[in-house]
Formats: sequence, structure tokens, C-alpha cells
Amino acid sequence: MSRVAYVEGQYLPHRRAAVHIEDRGYQFSDGVYEVIAVEGGRLIDEESHLDRLERSLRELRIAPPLSRRSLTIVMREVVRRNRVVNGILYIQATRGTAPREHAFPAQNKTALVMTARQTDLHRERLAQDGVTVITIPDIRWRRCDIKSVSLLPNVLGKQAAQEAGAFEAWQIDRDGFITEGTSTNAWIVGRDGLLITRSTDTAILGGITRLSVLDLARRNGVEFVERPFTVGEAKAAREAFLTSTTSLVLPVVRIDDAVVGNGKPGSLTLKIRDLYLAHMAGAPAPHLG
Ligand code: PDD
Repeated sequence: MSRVAYVEGQYLPHRRAAVHIEDRGYQFSDGVYEVIAVEGGRLIDEESHLDRLERSLRELRIAPPLSRRSLTIVMREVVRRNRVVNGILYIQATRGTAPREHAFPAQNKTALVMTARQTDLHRERLAQDGVTVITIPDIRWRRCDIKSVSLLPNVLGKQAAQEAGAFEAWQIDRDGFITEGTSTNAWIVGRDGLLITRSTDTAILGGITRLSVLDLARRNGVEFVERPFTVGEAKAAREAFLTSTTSLVLPVVRIDDAVVGNGKPGSLTLKIRDLYLAHMAGAPAPHLG
């Protein structure tokens, strides 16, 4: 089946979909994006993703491309036209096309692009075995809370992980604390069984999966704390895992050369994954036992 992309008001064959060479996203990474999971044809945590998209646009003073209502109509149409049942929807909005000048153009129109594709987000094999991560210095800018398309350090980090045979790279700030993965948020379960994830500040992206997991933890009596944790703490942790729209909840079983816990996915991690899968399925969450 041929894929369809939405490009500035038109639905085009994916292979012919293009933006202008002077699109500011292309020249300056002057744009933002969202990735939303599709499960059973439904957009998961749609409102939270739209809230974050609006916030990212606001922080960069890019005008919203469409009203929220119109945006949701296009989003559904892109999913429908690509016949995505389980997969992802990608939304990108840039400051549009203008002659190359760093400062904002006097006249411009926000350029909106969307694509969708079928893909298996569950990756049960990875969930069963757990994944490995390496650690790298965090060389990013100081507004990682904005979901900008400027992802060069993330690209380099993920490539380093891949070359090391790892799934992800956890980035470390100057004080030795883990910020987050290159496209995922980082979590550990401390020696005392407490769930820990970094508090949201400008050093990390406020993940929507992170938000949902915290909400599920709260509603299911899982004790947690939002605070930075060091690499040493992570390596000595009882459990570790990562979260994102495309990874859902995946156990981490090794960090660099350190085996986490007994080298198998942790029990709390797997329970949280189950809660999250139930959340995606829209079913009542199973009880933690
Ligand atoms: N990445 N941190 C970073 C740097 C990310 O890029 C992402 C998401 C996350 C997790 O956020 P969420 O739970 O809202 O997906 C954390 C997306 C999936 C991507 O770039 O493909």
C-alpha cells in the first residue's frame, strides 16, 4: 500500500512529499515535532502530546500551524489514509520558508508536515531480554525541554550506542547525573525499592510516557521520587528501565559494563510495563501484586 504524507495542506504520495530547500527546519532546525503512538487506531495520550506541541511552539515563538481542533482532524486523516492500526504518527512544524537570515523572518507561515507508519511498538523480545545502554557526556543545549528537531547530539549519541552494540545512550551532565537517553527518559529502582526518575527541568524533555508512568505509579501505590541520580547510583540500582512513545517501557539490564540487578528485567519494571500496556489498550489497569 502506498504511503501518504501531509505537507502544508496537501496529502501527497510519501515518496514525492517535499518541502522547500529554504524551509527553516532544514536550514536552522527551526522547528518542533511530536511522535504519537497509534494503538488499535487510537492516538495514545493525544491531549498531552498536543499540550507539549503547543508549549514547544510557544517557547520558540512559532505560530501554531492550525487550531487544535483542525490539527486533530488532520492527524486522524493521516492515520486513516495510511491505514495505521498500530504504529506512529509524526508531526513537524517549522517556522516555514524564508530567505536565509538567522533572525525570524518578517513574513512567514508555519510549515506543517505529518507522516504515519505501521510498526510494532511492543517489541516483546526486547521487553523479555531487556536492553543495554552506554553512558556519554550530555553535550546538548540548555533547553532540552523543548521538543526541537535540532537533534544532532542525540543522533551522535544513538549512533555511538549502536556502534557499541547497545540500544540507547544515557547522557550525563557535568555533575555526573544522568539527564536522559537520546530519545528516551531514564529510570531506576533504588536499593530500597523506590522508583526514581529525574525531575523535569530544562535539562530533559518532559516525556509523555514518563508522565503517564508517573500517573500510573501514583494510582497504583508505587512510591516514587523525581530527582536526579548519578551514573554510580544507576549502576548499583536494583532495576533500571527507559520510556518513550516508541519504546514504551523497556527494561535496562546493563549500563556500560555494569550488570543491573541480576541481569534480568526487574519485577517492578515489568509491572510498570504491564500497567502501561493496559493504559495503551484503554483497559482498566491490572493490580500490582
Ligand atoms: N523521542 N527524551 C528525548 C530526548 C526524546 O526525544 C524522547 C522522545 C523522550 C521520550 O518522550 P515521549 O515519552 O514523549 O516519547 C525523552 C521521540 C519518540 C523521538 O524522537 O522519536
